[in-house]
Amino acid sequence: MTEISKRHFLYLSAVSPFIFQLSAFAAQDDGNKSAVTYPRTIAVLQEAFSTEMIAYKNYIGYTSKALSEKYPNIAYLFYSFSYSEIVHADNYKQILAALGLAVKPFQIETEVRDTKSNTQKAAQNELKKIQATYPDFMRELETESCEEAIVSCMYSWKSHKQHEEKIKEIRKYSGIFFSSLRSRIEGLNLDFHVCKVCGSTIDKVPDLPCVICNKPKSNYQRIERPV
Ligand SMILES: [Fe+2]
Ligand SMILES: [Fe+2]
Repeated sequence: MTEISKRHFLYLSAVSPFIFQLSAFAAQDDGNKSAVTYPRTIAVLQEAFSTEMIAYKNYIGYTSKALSEKYPNIAYLFYSFSYSEIVHADNYKQILAALGLAVKPFQIETEVRDTKSNTQKAAQNELKKIQATYPDFMRELETESCEEAIVSCMYSWKSHKQHEEKIKEIRKYSGIFFSSLRSRIEGLNLDFHVCKVCGSTIDKVPDLPCVICNKPKSNYQRIERPV
């Protein structure tokens, strides 16, 4: 975590129990007023929404490919990540709606290759979000102090760290021995759950409040295996 984002996260942990008070925006009487008050925040929210939707589409494509290549556990991993990404996208969409704005339409182009390549690409994309995309978003958001947007970005940033750590486990086998995944990974009994509030992704039944947003464990949605 960068120093800037760490400071923000600790601050928000102290002053806010991570409850989205979107009603705070209800005082905004129209989108134009919001655009004047939060122009840079709105730009970040739009870009973050696009980023998350692209990630969602990619993971859906990677899921289908992994299934067709007989990697059911990797497909399950990608499918669970896709649910997390749609939680992130929906959070940004909701904040924009509270500001009186709709998400901008955009073209989503995905590139799906074989599962080995998709796994490498997924790791690269998650690392980019952790190291560059979200730190950049946070720096922009700091200029206008829109707490809901900052908290939501922090949720996404921490979820992507979880994703990257899971993919890293798989990438240990992403060299010439990738085919050995079937015995090493595919034998595992995974049970993914994603927090509907923040997108936190864990591979066992939750027994504590969410590790990211601290909301009750009842907010975790069990992810069914894709078929
Ligand atoms: Fe995400
Ligand atoms: Fe959560």
